[in-house]
Amino acid sequence: MDAKKKSHIVVWGNAKGGVGKSTLALHFALQCMYEKLSVACFDADGDQGTLFRSIENRRQYCKQQNFSLPVPEIVRFCPSAYETAELSIKDLDLLLQTLENFDVIVIDTQGSDTPLGRYVHQKSSVLVSPITESPLDLDLFVNIREIQEQSHLTLPFGSYAHMVWEQRLNKASQAQEHLEWVVVRNRISHQISRTQLHMEKILKSLAPRVGFHIGPSIGDRSIFRELFSYGLTVMDRDGLTTLAHITARQEIKSMTQYILSLLKKNKY
Ligand SMILES: Nc1ncnc2c1ncn2[C@@H]1O[C@H](COP(=O)(O)OP(=O)(O)OP(=O)(O)O)[C@@H](O)[C@H]1O
Ligand SMILES: [Mg+2]
Repeated sequence: MDAKKKSHIVVWGNAKGGVGKSTLALHFALQCMYEKLSVACFDADGDQGTLFRSIENRRQYCKQQNFSLPVPEIVRFCPSAYETAELSIKDLDLLLQTLENFDVIVIDTQGSDTPLGRYVHQKSSVLVSPITESPLDLDLFVNIREIQEQSHLTLPFGSYAHMVWEQRLNKASQAQEHLEWVVVRNRISHQISRTQLHMEKILKSLAPRVGFHIGPSIGDRSIFRELFSYGLTVMDRDGLTTLAHITARQEIKSMTQYILSLLKKNKY
């Protein structure tokens, strides 16, 4: 990417659980590898270890089937193994330093607000937050009831958006670097619903005010769930050419290109 070697840190975060952080982090990492970037994955949700296990499944599958597929480097980090947040942050920094030579470091996080989670958000060049089509997910960005019921001069930030802003300010003051924030709508249903249109409208109006971009969205496709036990991604199997598979692959490519373009724009 840039002439000067520096890792680009892409963090997958959202205070809401089960929105697709680990699934999309894995797909992003693999698509970057297919685009000839060197990638290291860092599972900061190591107690659950979804990203770590996906990549281990992939390694095993390739070995058993004698396949030669790209497998990213993976570090599993278990926050619960540390007595204090300070110790975990210190260790996390040391581990990240060992990955400095990779083009991209993909960090998967846990869906809860912890000092370590906050620190990881601060380290990101680009933060990607998947959300599903539920107003419940949006409530962590902005108080959804208040914006529907009243017109506000000040935006009633939800807890997650508040936390991201704090980390943005910390990053700007400590490293003089900007944190780009992208929201990716995940598990979009094929059938357009009223909720879907409502979410779209609210997101569009919030984006410039809360300070996030709306990235390309990803459909709800069972292929994402089916591939997990093999650690495979929709980009891997060229032989599979169902319409759902081709569309899913295109969506992941668009999402990846969007994130990489933000890294390039900011010359991280
Ligand atoms: N686009 C999609 N289509 C269909 N299923 C999906 C999609 N994205 C994710 N899933 C499924 O949704 C579930 C939750 O995904 P995932 O574990 O990636 O979320 P998460 O945000 O990392 O959750 P956690 O907060 O628990 O770490 C999984 O069963 C996953 O296979
Ligand atoms: Mg996860």
